[in-house]
Amino acid sequence: MNVIGSMQIYAEGQSIASLASMDTDTDAPAAIRAAPSIATARLRLRPMWPADADRVAEILSHPDVGRMIRRIPVPYPSDEARGWLDTHAAERASGRAYRFGVGLGDRLIGCADIGGIEDRAGELGYWFDPACWGRGYAFEAADAVVRFAFAELGLQRVTATHAHDNPRSGRLLLKLGFRETGRRAAWSNSRRQPIEQVRYVLTDGPSG
Ligand SMILES: CC(C)(COP(=O)(O)OP(=O)(O)OC[C@H]1O[C@@H](n2cnc3c(N)ncnc32)[C@H](O)[C@@H]1OP(=O)(O)O)[C@@H](O)C(=O)NCCC(=O)NCCS
Repeated sequence: MNVIGSMQIYAEGQSIASLASMDTDTDAPAAIRAAPSIATARLRLRPMWPADADRVAEILSHPDVGRMIRRIPVPYPSDEARGWLDTHAAERASGRAYRFGVGLGDRLIGCADIGGIEDRAGELGYWFDPACWGRGYAFEAADAVVRFAFAELGLQRVTATHAHDNPRSGRLLLKLGFRETGRRAAWSNSRRQPIEQVRYVLTDGPSG
């Protein structure tokens, strides 16, 4: 187990005790990177599996969520979700992306991920069940993923974007310490029309 601030990072399927008993610094990070989980004050961030497909489809099909995610069709079918979840293990193995399901108790309430990893840079993404908005869960999860990206993955630059009409996402990114870098037009699959995207970057680790 690794500890960053108040969060604990450990490998899925391995007990914290067994990881803590590893006596080299080289074993634990490799195991952690294989299928990491992160415990925050209120949430558990863990790998997502095919069994999560229906719940992922349910959350992403909500119009207030789906329209803010540029690359997906809305409604988002369970089959598409299953296909997406099937790619996660290979993405982790290659170091390209780490996607966390966010659990509140036993319930999956959202996702926070770092993708497009290349040259010590990656892109932050997140989405949550609207029933759980406004309680700071997205901030808690995204903050943990950003800390994981800098401290565990060694990234030096994390980018993020949101649609121009998504102020909640903008507030979240500013609270995380991101700064705006500009705007550009981009195609939205979910809206089937172009949108203006606001772009952000974080280069010196999370705030606080
Ligand atoms: C973007 C999104 C994740 C933000 O969710 P959120 O719940 O508003 O974000 P947070 O977790 O940071 O919660 C912030 C709010 O919780 C409130 N809050 C309540 N309890 C809190 C606590 N314990 N800690 C922190 N904030 C708390 C804050 O005051 C804040 O309210 P405000 O936005 O009115 O100022 C969510 O709107 C979403 O899933 N949108 C659809 C998908 C999406 O847009 N993804 C990004 C695409 S680029």
